[in-house]
Amino acid sequence: MNNIKDHGNLNQKKVLLRLDLNVPLKNDVIIDQTRINKILPIIKFLLDKNSRIIVISHVGRPKGKINKNLSLKPICEILEKKINKKIKIINDNIFNLKKENLLKDPNHQIVFLENIRFYEEEEKNDTTFAKHLAGLADLFVNDAFSCSHRAHASVCKITEFLPSFAGLQLETEINALKKVTTEIKKPITCIIGGSKISSKIGIIKNLIPKFDNIIIVGAMANNIINYKGNKIGKSIREENCEMIINEIFKTSKNYSCKITYPEDVLVGKNMDDKSKVKEINNIKDDDLILDIGPKTINKIKDIIENSETVLWNGPAGYFENPNFANGSYKIAKAIIKKNKNKSIFSVVGGGDTIALINKIDAFKDFNFVSTAGGAFLEYLEGKELPGIKALK
Ligand code: 3PG
Repeated sequence: MNNIKDHGNLNQKKVLLRLDLNVPLKNDVIIDQTRINKILPIIKFLLDKNSRIIVISHVGRPKGKINKNLSLKPICEILEKKINKKIKIINDNIFNLKKENLLKDPNHQIVFLENIRFYEEEEKNDTTFAKHLAGLADLFVNDAFSCSHRAHASVCKITEFLPSFAGLQLETEINALKKVTTEIKKPITCIIGGSKISSKIGIIKNLIPKFDNIIIVGAMANNIINYKGNKIGKSIREENCEMIINEIFKTSKNYSCKITYPEDVLVGKNMDDKSKVKEINNIKDDDLILDIGPKTINKIKDIIENSETVLWNGPAGYFENPNFANGSYKIAKAIIKKNKNKSIFSVVGGGDTIALINKIDAFKDFNFVSTAGGAFLEYLEGKELPGIKALK
């Protein structure tokens, strides 16, 4: 894998830079800027080398359709302030763009293409689309480790048509995770939460042989609670997961890996509601499960207390509403306490998890914070990520 920092001459070269600016957004407001801060080094590096930069990123899941709520504009505006440079955002249809017309204005050394997932070709890893994108630049840089688990056109296919390089942050993340996974100390606990059930549920089975404990919280836990014969009311869940869950429990019996899921939860009638503690066999049809309950928290604290390593991806609940943030905060505090007396090695990953730990100003209290969520878990699984493989 070639790194862009070893490229001899970037002067006036048009660089197509894939970033992951998929930051948590609420009503156009960026809840957490970590992913933006992490890409400042590559932007500064390319600016210093006098390159011309065409940024590609996605935000959210617009599923191939233009969605004004998922524009990169607010992210672009924040980045402009951070680097004190004008950035032009290009809204024209990508298929109408031509290399010679891009970055003509000497006042603009950076342009942004609008959310790449407005094009259905992106997620299809479409060849024509990737070829067209490649035609806009001289070389390609992937500095988006956190979406390198996606075989998408601007991550994978594009590398077939341009000289392609790893970015600075991508290399940092891979090196850190490589070190973590080779020097890892047992007992190892992996906490998996968040709301992206479909991306994560299939990974768990492959993690079982590697870890001593897997703690399932967040939306994925709803599927488990339901699988165990309980109602989950209006809570989100993924359809047709019974077979996967069955395999998870079956596999865990063959290894010494304990699967922990909530035994009590916090519910509300809507996302803005107050919280109420409930046992999992007492969920009503109009309840929404939005956090883990006190008994579950205590159980998780005990497991953390007895772990040497903890890997955490995805909040335990809907922490954006403070009434449902307790579970996630208590998990964070249990890890931090052990981290402070150096009796645990802790790695946290994912956009929402980072937002959560930033809310309690605890970024520095973990040994490593990865920008990646799904990519982080797939890396732990031992898989070669498609975006990384493509760079080789
Ligand atoms: C992430 O936030 O994990 C990446 O940006 C990938 O997003 P996705 O799960 O929507 O593909």
